[in-house]
Amino acid sequence: MAEELKLSGIDRRTRYEELYPQLAALLSSEPLLLPNLANFAAALRQTFGFFWVGFYLVEGGELILGPFQGDIACTRICRGRGVCGTAWVEDRTLVVPDVEAFPGHIACSSASRSEIVVPVHDASGRVVAVLDIDSDELDDFTAELDAPELERYVRLLSPLFPLRDDT
Ligand code: SME
Repeated sequence: MAEELKLSGIDRRTRYEELYPQLAALLSSEPLLLPNLANFAAALRQTFGFFWVGFYLVEGGELILGPFQGDIACTRICRGRGVCGTAWVEDRTLVVPDVEAFPGHIACSSASRSEIVVPVHDASGRVVAVLDIDSDELDDFTAELDAPELERYVRLLSPLFPLRDDT
């Protein structure tokens, strides 16, 4: 496909619907993980205009900054720390309407006001990364729309992660 997204919907629900098949096609045209994570982050930021969209990858018992779109960010997050480390350990999507009200939130940027973090699983179901999206608006993400949509989106990535045999 041409490297151009076709988006006509103005509401977020329609945009999620429009982007999904285009992103699925884009990812299926490339077998390597890294360029797909990069385009995935770019597509979400381009479509929704979020302040920061990116991945933290599970590596050596911590989260390491992966491909992202936005301002420079913290490079390492300990297991169980911040929104990202908590979503990883608890293996669930976290919607944070006000980052200042989240105990232990890691402020990579003072412009971030709300956040959603979605665990990414490999084909065996293991958490291998988290998708982190920050907004400069308060209460920008919902458990009703953004969480299930982004969980659907990250499932596109599962087959791309190498299976690990360590525990
Ligand atoms: N706020 C995140 C850290 C990552 S930055 O937002 C890019 C957290 O608390 O885990």
